[in-house]
Amino acid sequence: MSAGKLRRFRVDVTVIIFLIHLTHSEIGALVTSSRVDSAIKCPLGQFPCGNLSECLPQALQCDGHSDCPNGADERRCGDNVGWADLFGGIVQHKTNFLDQYFHRGCFLQQYPASCDCIQTVVECVEVDLQDVPLLSPNVTWLSLRSNKIQVLSDFVFSEYSVLQRLFLQNNSLRLISKHAFSGLHNLKRLFLSQNLISSLSPGVFRDLHQLEWLMLDHNPLSSLSQDTFIGLQSLMYLSMVDTSLQQLPHPSFCQHMPTLDWLDLEGNQIQNLNYSILKTCNKLEVLLLMDNRIRKVPENTFQSLWKLAELNLSSNRIKELPKNTFKSLSKSLLKLNISHNPLLRIHPNHFNHLTHLQSLALEGIDIPDIHTKMFLPMMNLSHIYFKTFQYCSYAPHVRSCKPNTDGISSFEDLLANIVLRVSVWVMAFITCFGNLFVICMRSLIRAENNLHAVCIKVLCCADCLMGVYLFFVGVFDVKFRGQYNRNALLWMDSTECQIIGFLAMLSTEVSVLLLTYLTLEKFLVIVFPFSNLRPGKLQTGVVLASIWLVGFIIAAVPLMNKDTFGNYYGRNGVCFPLHSDRQEKPTAKGYSTGIFLGLNLVAFLVIVCCYSSMFYSIYKTGINATTDLRSRLHRDVAVANRFFFIVFSDALCWIPIFMVKILSLLEVDIPGTISSWVVIFILPINSALNPILYTLTTSFFREQVELLLCRWQRRHMLKKDRKSLTSCTVFMDTSRAPCYQQPAYLHPVSLTSADPRYA
Ligand SMILES: *[C@@H]1O[C@H](CO)[C@@H](O)[C@H](O)[C@H]1NC(C)=O
Ligand SMILES: *[C@@H]1O[C@H](CO)[C@@H](O)[C@H](O)[C@H]1NC(C)=O
Ligand SMILES: *[C@@H]1O[C@H](CO)[C@@H](O)[C@H](O)[C@H]1NC(C)=O
Ligand SMILES: *[C@@H]1O[C@H](CO)[C@@H](O)[C@H](O)[C@H]1NC(C)=O
Ligand SMILES: *[C@@H]1O[C@H](CO)[C@@H](O)[C@H](O)[C@H]1NC(C)=O
Ligand SMILES: *[C@@H]1O[C@H](CO)[C@@H](O)[C@H](O)[C@H]1NC(C)=O
Ligand SMILES: *[C@@H]1O[C@H](CO)[C@@H](O)[C@H](O)[C@H]1NC(C)=O
Repeated sequence: MSAGKLRRFRVDVTVIIFLIHLTHSEIGALVTSSRVDSAIKCPLGQFPCGNLSECLPQALQCDGHSDCPNGADERRCGDNVGWADLFGGIVQHKTNFLDQYFHRGCFLQQYPASCDCIQTVVECVEVDLQDVPLLSPNVTWLSLRSNKIQVLSDFVFSEYSVLQRLFLQNNSLRLISKHAFSGLHNLKRLFLSQNLISSLSPGVFRDLHQLEWLMLDHNPLSSLSQDTFIGLQSLMYLSMVDTSLQQLPHPSFCQHMPTLDWLDLEGNQIQNLNYSILKTCNKLEVLLLMDNRIRKVPENTFQSLWKLAELNLSSNRIKELPKNTFKSLSKSLLKLNISHNPLLRIHPNHFNHLTHLQSLALEGIDIPDIHTKMFLPMMNLSHIYFKTFQYCSYAPHVRSCKPNTDGISSFEDLLANIVLRVSVWVMAFITCFGNLFVICMRSLIRAENNLHAVCIKVLCCADCLMGVYLFFVGVFDVKFRGQYNRNALLWMDSTECQIIGFLAMLSTEVSVLLLTYLTLEKFLVIVFPFSNLRPGKLQTGVVLASIWLVGFIIAAVPLMNKDTFGNYYGRNGVCFPLHSDRQEKPTAKGYSTGIFLGLNLVAFLVIVCCYSSMFYSIYKTGINATTDLRSRLHRDVAVANRFFFIVFSDALCWIPIFMVKILSLLEVDIPGTISSWVVIFILPINSALNPILYTLTTSFFREQVELLLCRWQRRHMLKKDRKSLTSCTVFMDTSRAPCYQQPAYLHPVSLTSADPRYA
């Protein structure tokens, strides 16, 4: 081991031992005391309200809602470290310049009639020019934007030696001759964006010694050589966004651009990046490489970029980052974005050297062995971006941590939204007690069709489980209130989460299968009324048992094998595997797709078809039957209404779920908010409405209730009669007194509850 290495090793060890000996709050004190701007001390994870002595937790900083009395928690939230501001400033300056000289006269003798001229500035925008027009030689700014120029021939600008800015973007430029820009000794900015340039000859910018900005973005360049840039000795800003570049010009990209400080290479197909390519770029301050195909970043790649302040490597294909990759940037780097790379591992010491870093983006990256130690060395970090909000608790010294919610849960609460929190209880009550009530009622009232009643009771049991699930979600929400972030990962991994997820799944699947069975049974009876298809006791029992068995298996399979399914239920705080993300295992994704878009979709379609054809069949029978028209119409409408509501509630519940599933398969980003509303409001709709639809609105049930009411009324009336005889007639007039009507099932061809088909 060399002496230097040995020393470094010792330092690392002492730092680690030092950190191990610090308690949490001591670290907090250490961190806060090191901050120059915060005179007020707050506990770790909290930050002061400007100059007030009040402290607020990290999650409330920059959350879009002002919590400090002076609103300081929402101030300085923008992540504008680095160069973004400067660039904006320059662009703005340009427009101000134009405004300033507007309405001043033109100083040029010669310019095309279709163009505008202000002093020495000529604008020929969208005037269908096919060639560069002839102008007086002392033009300083020339805009030929959005025309139809295809070729720039040799010496076409050689007259305009005082030209400072040349705008050629959005033309159809295909060919730029080798000497096209010759003579432009004073050109400062050249815009060639949005053209069809596929190659640039070496030395084409040879005369542009003063050029500071070169915009080559949105051209199909695909390859460039280092000699293309000969002569650009003052170039500072180079944009090559979306130029289909497959390789950076090598061996040494900045050889001819010694002052380059901003290089934008977003959206190309660059695969290789290494030290030798970047070694001459030592003035570079901003390097944007997002959205390329970089796979490997060797350890010494950035070694010569000792001024680099902003580095964006997001959306590449980097799987591994050597642990000392950023070491040479320790003195300069302020902003680092490595989001959306398939990184396998973040080394605990990766960010150790980046003591000046102010913004770090790690979006879309799983950090299984995340630890507070990873982020502590970055004392000045003020913005951090993670994949999930749960990681925020590992960077308590960073003021702004995003995201602070996944739509369902927030940093602090399992259910982030007050509406969700209340409605989970409301839905739980409705579902549980609605179903229990129906089970009781059905047990009290003797039904004509016992088997049917049993089926409905079983359906209610299944639906009741959904209520139980919602109850538990509510209970755990209350349990974790205010400190969810500490428990989130544990909770989603816990057996409780698996169990309630299992319950919800069991409930939905049994309910779906039962509804389908009931529908099919009804369908067979109505459409083929004379065949003897009615199932017996034994058959019904077998069917019910197998439905529960199937539901049980469907819900239990993902729990069997953690390796193939991952954490199937614990993907979010509500433990329901509705919407899949990219991190989900393929088996799990296929499985939930199979269930939701296979089985459930088929069941839904069967229900819709059966009810449609049943209604049609009843309607037809009705026409043939010789009952009086009005009652038949009345009855048809009633039947139609009921069927409509059954299908409608099914559709209400399932169509959104199918949509969410399809969208998430298409990799559309579904906000967590939508999933949570679907799980808490839409999924239980069926469970809550089933008792009403299948029992409370049936005519049989209504008659039974009316009968009960009648009995009670009679008793009541008898009592009353004893007191006053006169009131009776009035009472009988005003109330339509259902008791005295002929019971519906005594009608000749009546289609009511007495007929089990409609129960
Ligand atoms: C806090 O700063 C504001 C202005 O920034 C000032 O008006 C106010 O007096 C200060 N309050 C304290 C307690 O220093
Ligand atoms: C432009 O050039 C012409 C001759 O080339 C000269 O007469 C005129 O003064 C110049 N105008 C400006 C504003 O420099
Ligand atoms: C490009 O030019 C065409 C006309 O040539 C115009 O319609 C279009 O808006 C321009 N696009 C941009 C982005 O300026
Ligand atoms: C660096 O990358 C270039 C371009 O891909 C390649 O030609 C060169 O061999 C690489 N150099 C090293 C030292 O890997
Ligand atoms: C690249 O990262 C920088 C910060 O490092 C950020 O400002 C910029 O928006 C990022 N670019 C994209 C396209 O996200
Ligand atoms: C980091 O890069 C990703 C992808 O380019 C972008 O969406 C995100 O906004 C960037 N983050 C920051 C903080 O600039
Ligand atoms: C942190 O930031 C402050 C002011 O913003 C600065 O004075 C200090 O040097 C920075 N510390 C490090 C380690 O970069």
